[in-house]
Amino acid sequence: MDELITAVKTVGIPCVIKPLMSSSGKGQSVIKTEADIEKAWNYAQAGKRGDYTEVIAEAFVKFNSEITLLTVTQKNGATLFCPPIGHRQERGDYQESWQPAEINSEYLKEAQVMADKVTKALTGEGIWGVEFFLADDGVYFSELSPRPHDTGMVTLAGTQNFSEFELHARAVLGLPIPEITLERVGASAVILADKEGVHPTFTGLENAMNNKLSDLRIFGKPVTRPYRRMAVALTYDKVGSNVEAIKKRAIEIAKMVKVESE
Ligand SMILES: Nc1ncnc2c1ncn2[C@@H]1O[C@H](COP(=O)(O)OP(=O)(O)OP(=O)(O)O)[C@@H](O)[C@H]1O
Ligand SMILES: [Mg+2]
Repeated sequence: MDELITAVKTVGIPCVIKPLMSSSGKGQSVIKTEADIEKAWNYAQAGKRGDYTEVIAEAFVKFNSEITLLTVTQKNGATLFCPPIGHRQERGDYQESWQPAEINSEYLKEAQVMADKVTKALTGEGIWGVEFFLADDGVYFSELSPRPHDTGMVTLAGTQNFSEFELHARAVLGLPIPEITLERVGASAVILADKEGVHPTFTGLENAMNNKLSDLRIFGKPVTRPYRRMAVALTYDKVGSNVEAIKKRAIEIAKMVKVESE
């Protein structure tokens, strides 16, 4: 806690406090005044995963949008980058993602250079979800997953020649991936539970599946809780199609499905 007070002085306010290990934004909060420091510390300790008590204090980045750059490191081949994925987060969890995301070529190049450096330094082969913030003053590296990324589920809509899971499997097996190509424009939108329960069931599937160029994935999680991600709606169209329209359709389809539980 004392170290955190010092760290907050160094990075300045506002800043973001994160447990060293967590996911889906758990234990993460924004400090807006000095009075928030103790709250942020306690919140991080309550939300952390594992035994690490350390927290990360990070300057708040005022970004315009964020992307995931899925990066594949190979045993015997070049490091490859998937077309950038745009996403929107709420409560620390992604709500919708789309591919390709709009980004100028200079920012994209910069992000690729950073993703290449950080994955090389970490070593190993497989897919990485490298997250960046796009701001007025440049590209910020945020964090990365050493595995397929939740926002990358959009690739299940057939946006690429290989989904992020297929790419990961090939890479960890040491099998070659000669190239990654964009085959469609796509979007994903999450389907959330709204209460605690067991034995989840899904209604509205007929309506949701009655949409062309679309699909659903149900995760088979046995337990529900408020805001728990239970399924994802996927939709796509030809390369060159309007991404905004596809994003809207993904959200509409996701809304058609309701999660019930006992
Ligand atoms: N320094 C920051 N400035 C502004 N926003 C931030 C900052 N750090 C995180 N965020 C916001 O919070 C989201 C979640 O943060 P982060 O990715 O670090 O958490 P996480 O727990 O690893 O989440 P996940 O595992 O779901 O990716 C980010 O995608 C971003 O929207
Ligand atoms: Mg993240």
